[in-house]
Amino acid sequence: MSSSKPHILITEPIPEKAISYLQKIGEVTVGEKGTYQSAETLINDISSYDALLCMLSTPVSENVLRQGKKLKIVANFAVGYDNIDIKAAQKYNIKVANTPDVLTEACGDYAMGLLLSLSRKLKEAEQYLRDGKFNGWEPLGFLGMELRGRTLGIIGMGRIGQAFAHRARAFGMKIIYHNRSLIAPEIQQKLDATYIPDHKELAAKSDVLSLNCPLTKETHHLVDEALLKLMPEHALLVNISRGAVIDEEALANALHNNIIAGAALDVFEEEPDVHPKLLTAPNTLLLPHIASATHRTREAIGMLAAKAISSVLEGKPDPEIPNL
Ligand code: DGY
Repeated sequence: MSSSKPHILITEPIPEKAISYLQKIGEVTVGEKGTYQSAETLINDISSYDALLCMLSTPVSENVLRQGKKLKIVANFAVGYDNIDIKAAQKYNIKVANTPDVLTEACGDYAMGLLLSLSRKLKEAEQYLRDGKFNGWEPLGFLGMELRGRTLGIIGMGRIGQAFAHRARAFGMKIIYHNRSLIAPEIQQKLDATYIPDHKELAAKSDVLSLNCPLTKETHHLVDEALLKLMPEHALLVNISRGAVIDEEALANALHNNIIAGAALDVFEEEPDVHPKLLTAPNTLLLPHIASATHRTREAIGMLAAKAISSVLEGKPDPEIPNL
């Protein structure tokens, strides 16, 4: 690499518009899918780059950042940034950006879709039909949970939690939430949402428990055996945040033993691996981390990450660009 233009590494293919945008300001290398899922490869390559656009599956550890001698910015192609050592980035004076806002609506739609699919047993019913078992309309077949009047408990009432709550209200659900702090009174009023300071109490009161919090030391394995035991037997769990917010062994046991009635999981602790006991758990929807996967949203994520890189490389700070 010898051009005087800045060198930008995108760890795997992203929407073309964002790649073209970055090609106007620098020499862009796009890695092959899977190449940068381990820190080792990144440690070997990072020293040549001025900017890194990485995925939530890219471990940007202190070792990576230390080797990034020219690195000025890491832009995560995601709103969650638990894959990046933020403290180390600050130590090495490397900016970190994520992509809030642009994926909120797609994630809100998706959480609602997971809940509808889980509560009405769509996956099992479709499989039944495909297996040739549908022999005519049945009064007692595939009876699910109706959402109207049920309580949705949300842990993590940020943008995505609120987007889900807004949709759930339209389905007649009552909203309770647990968060680091109270949300703005006008939003709380609009959602008719009740703040529950204790997440255990929230779990005990929820017909549906939704995880929309970031993964931090405090939220790691927040849903464990003890919490699952507090949930009503008919309760459903939805997780589109991060897999490690749940103790998956405990959840799999709870599902196998009817401690709770079902779970829809978009995220897993050891992605792409899925806990083997979850694969055989009843009433469980398992999806490959696709909450933000719409054409519009993924392009918007790419453009926001690309603009964060250009604003740093060109020394034109943009107040719209997140700086973590
Ligand atoms: C993110 O962007 O952090 C989410 O995991 C998208 O689904």
